[in-house]
Amino acid sequence: MTELFEPLTIRGTTIPNRVWMSPMCTYSALSEGKEAGAPNDFHLAHYAARAAGGVGLAMVEATGVTAQGRISAYDLGLWDDTQISAHRRLARAISDAGSIPGIQLAHAGRKASMERPWFGGGPVAVADGGWDTVAPSSVAFPGYADPAAMTVAEIGDVVAAWAEAARRALTAGYQVVEIHAAHGYLLHSFLSPLSNIRTDAYGGSLENRARIVLEVLDAVRNVWPTEKPVFLRISSTDWVAENQESNGNVSEAWTLEDSIVLSRWAREHGADLIDASSGGLVPAKIPHRDDYQTFNAAQLKASSGVAVAAVGRITDPVAAAQLLENGSADAVFIGRALLRDASWANNAAAVLGARGRFMHQYDYAV
Ligand SMILES: Cc1cc2nc3c(=O)[nH]c(=O)nc-3n(C[C@H](O)[C@H](O)[C@H](O)COP(=O)(O)O)c2cc1C
Repeated sequence: MTELFEPLTIRGTTIPNRVWMSPMCTYSALSEGKEAGAPNDFHLAHYAARAAGGVGLAMVEATGVTAQGRISAYDLGLWDDTQISAHRRLARAISDAGSIPGIQLAHAGRKASMERPWFGGGPVAVADGGWDTVAPSSVAFPGYADPAAMTVAEIGDVVAAWAEAARRALTAGYQVVEIHAAHGYLLHSFLSPLSNIRTDAYGGSLENRARIVLEVLDAVRNVWPTEKPVFLRISSTDWVAENQESNGNVSEAWTLEDSIVLSRWAREHGADLIDASSGGLVPAKIPHRDDYQTFNAAQLKASSGVAVAAVGRITDPVAAAQLLENGSADAVFIGRALLRDASWANNAAAVLGARGRFMHQYDYAV
C-alpha cells in the first residue's frame, strides 16, 4: 500500500510521491495596483506548509492568463511580466520545502467577475467593480450576466495568452503546468454543447468544440520544455446526461464518453496527465458518494490509456492508496483535506508505513 509514496517520473520530471495538492483558489492576492495578481507572503506560507507537509507536488491555484479571466479580482495572475518575480519566490518556497511546484493556468470565461466566497460569492456587476465576461456563445451561467460571444480573433488572443502565461510560469521556476479546462470555466464552456452553440470551426461537432483546448495545448507545448509535464484538468462529465429527470431532460451535455475521446486527443497534443474532476458547467445533481468522481477517473484511465490523477472526496489514506493499487489512478489530488491539515500527506505516510518528508531516520508509524 505504499505506491502512493513512490516517485512518479513524467518526461524528465520526477515527482517524489503521488499525493498532490489540488489547485484551490485562496482569493488572497491584491485586486488592484502594481502587485495585483502577484503571490504574497500568505501564498508562500500556505503552499510551503503543504509542501513541507509532504505533498509530492503542490499545484498553485487557478492563475489568470488574462485579467478578464480571473474568477475574482483577488485571484493570482500571470498575465504580465511584472508578476513573474513574485511567482519565482512562491515556486522556490515550494521547491525548498521538497515538493515539485506546479501552477494551474486558467480563464474563467462566463464564470469570471465573482465575489470572494466568504463575501457571499455570486457575480459582481460592472457597476460594482466587476467586468464584462466572454464565452463561446452568449449563453449565461444561470443567474449570471450574459457573456459576449468571442470572435475568432479573440479566441486566438486567449490561446496566445495561455502560451505567454506558460512562458512566464517557466521563467518563474514552475515545473508542471496545468491547463484548467474544467468546472464550467472558459475551456469547459467550449467543450460542452450546453454552453457552446457556435456554428463556426469552434462549435458543433466534438472535434470543433475541442479545438480551442487542443490549440491551447499546442501553444503551451510550444513554449514549455519537452522534459516538463503538462497536465489537463477536465470535468469528466457535466452530470446532466446521467440525471436526465432531475436535470430537466437535457439531452446534450458533456459526458464521460466525450472525455475519453478528448483525453486521447489531448495526449497527442502534448498533455501527459488528465486531472479528472467533474461538474461546474451548470447546476446539476451530483451523486453523494465518496467515489462520485474517482469512479470516472478510473473509467477514463482504463478507456483512454492516458495517465490520470483522481480527485474528489479523497480523505482516507488507505482509500487513496487503494486507488493506485487497483489501477484506478496514477496519483491523487487532495483538496479540502489539505486545507484542514497541511500535513495530510505526512500523516498518510505514517498510517501506511511509508516514508514521508523529513522522516528519514525516525519511525513515525502510528
Ligand atoms: C476553496 C477551494 C478552491 C478551489 N479552487 C480551485 C481552483 O483554483 N482550480 C480548480 O481546478 N479546482 C479548484 N477547487 C476544486 C479542488 O481542486 C478539488 O478538485 C475539489 O475540492 C474536490 O477535491 P476534495 O474533495 O479533495 O476537496 C477548489 C476547491 C476549494 C474547496
